[in-house]
Amino acid sequence: APEAVPLHAALAGKVALVTGAARGIGAATAERLAQEGARVVCLDVPALREALGATAKAVGGESLALDVTSPDAPARLVAALKERHGGVDVVVHNAGITRDRTLAKMTSQEWEQVLAVNLAAILAADEALLGQGALRDGGRLVYLSSISGVAGNFGQANYAATKAALIGYVAALAPRLASRGICANAVAPGFIETAMVAKMPLLTREVGRRLNALSQGGQPRDVAELVTFLSTPGAFGLTGNTVRVCGQGLI
Ligand code: NAI
Repeated sequence: APEAVPLHAALAGKVALVTGAARGIGAATAERLAQEGARVVCLDVPALREALGATAKAVGGESLALDVTSPDAPARLVAALKERHGGVDVVVHNAGITRDRTLAKMTSQEWEQVLAVNLAAILAADEALLGQGALRDGGRLVYLSSISGVAGNFGQANYAATKAALIGYVAALAPRLASRGICANAVAPGFIETAMVAKMPLLTREVGRRLNALSQGGQPRDVAELVTFLSTPGAFGLTGNTVRVCGQGLI
């Protein structure tokens, strides 16, 4: 794949928060946003503090070790952004988990964990960011949905439900924020080669790669490119949408 070509320092002077930034799509997104001139606050769980620090250092940004599901996460997030930067311009809700299991065998704990990280934590963070005025006018909200939320995927009823929820959420949220020039969009990646899919059985992974429209596993930077575009001021005409990236395949 070709290397990304920076737009025109489209995010100079902007502050961006990326959750789940220690690795994978989040790390690639932090890097790409920084290439456009954003000051990036990289958030991930305390257990990945080292990898998180490495991302933050590589992008010339900052780290924020925080589990998004902890009860005080929204308040700590708002406080950190306000104290350090007076607010935030771009929020990429990228942190997400899978707990795959056939529907018949899925435990209530597996449902709850996935709902907590992939949905409830995002709603709680947004409530705080918007309710306490941390997200500045002209802001950009980007959510990591998934092709699994569009088409479903075997063994992923919990995950697919949360990713589909985000599609409805951005559609509902966008009109409420339009008067402030804030855009809210989701991206729905196909199969992307990261640690998340590395734990899939080999055969599932092979099928995933082939279902990708590019007939290969997509790369984190493919997603980062779209997220970055949606984060720029010029993308003001796009809101309430879910954009598929790396294949409209069935995974
Ligand atoms: P990954 O597992 O490599 O990275 C996810 C990051 O989120 C990790 O660093 C993890 O520590 C962090 N995270 C998880 N729970 C957290 C919590 N409670 N608090 C703070 N951080 C937390 O996964 P990947 O593949 O980079 O996925 C990123 C996003 O993209 C996820 O939302 C995922 O569902 C979505 N996605 C991934 C696809 C893929 O094929 N890899 C396809 C479609 C969507």
